[in-house]
Amino acid sequence: MKLAVNIDHIATLRQARAAREPEPILAALLAEQAGASGIVCHLRGDRRHIQERDLKLLRQVIVTKLNLEMAATEEMLKVAREVKPDTVSLVPESPEEITTQGGLEVINQKDHLTSYLQELKKAGIKVSIFVDPLENQLEACQTVGADLVEINTGKYADARNEQERQTNLEEVRQAAAFASHLGLEVHAGHGLDYHNVQPIVDIKEISELSIGFAIVARAAIVGLTQAVKEMLELLQK
Ligand code: PXP
Repeated sequence: MKLAVNIDHIATLRQARAAREPEPILAALLAEQAGASGIVCHLRGDRRHIQERDLKLLRQVIVTKLNLEMAATEEMLKVAREVKPDTVSLVPESPEEITTQGGLEVINQKDHLTSYLQELKKAGIKVSIFVDPLENQLEACQTVGADLVEINTGKYADARNEQERQTNLEEVRQAAAFASHLGLEVHAGHGLDYHNVQPIVDIKEISELSIGFAIVARAAIVGLTQAVKEMLELLQK
């Protein structure tokens, strides 16, 4: 299982003081050296953490893969065309949310997404859609031309009891099998941490996890290299 490390919250800390530190670029390089297979960052419309400057520098220095999370807007299409990340992950975005709430609603905007994905692909960018574990949404991802899907594990991670956790885990499991059957590459992420990641690692169709907050939070205590290595150990089967 591959690990893509989301470094947004390194930038959150920097923005909290409008300071120069901590430097997200350094964090990305350390994560790569510790074994991460990719670096993820979300350029939000409100620029609350990652800035364009970060994205441009990341593109220049990282040696693994750069995954840009973004909303499917004209503004972001322009940024993506200019920066050319390896992958774009399309996510829903609203200014009030603390973090991404749920997967993208694909069914209701098939026409918009079909042409949007064509534009990204013309620029040589692979496209992922962050999606809830629902068969009709996954089918729509295939219809609009996604190369891969990232299944939202947020509901699984937020479960309030064991029964709910098992139900939500089963949904992720079935969605992963269904997406793979459709010929889509399958990733997963959101809310994963050192305690809840193992059952997701056991899902054979999932090839990569995107993890941010838990790693950055642990890094504040043990350092980023150690935090990434500890997570990678959990990802080895
Ligand atoms: N995947 C997507 C699409 C996300 O929006 C986020 C949060 O930025 C993550 C994964 C990582 O979630 P977390 O920070 O909870 O690990």
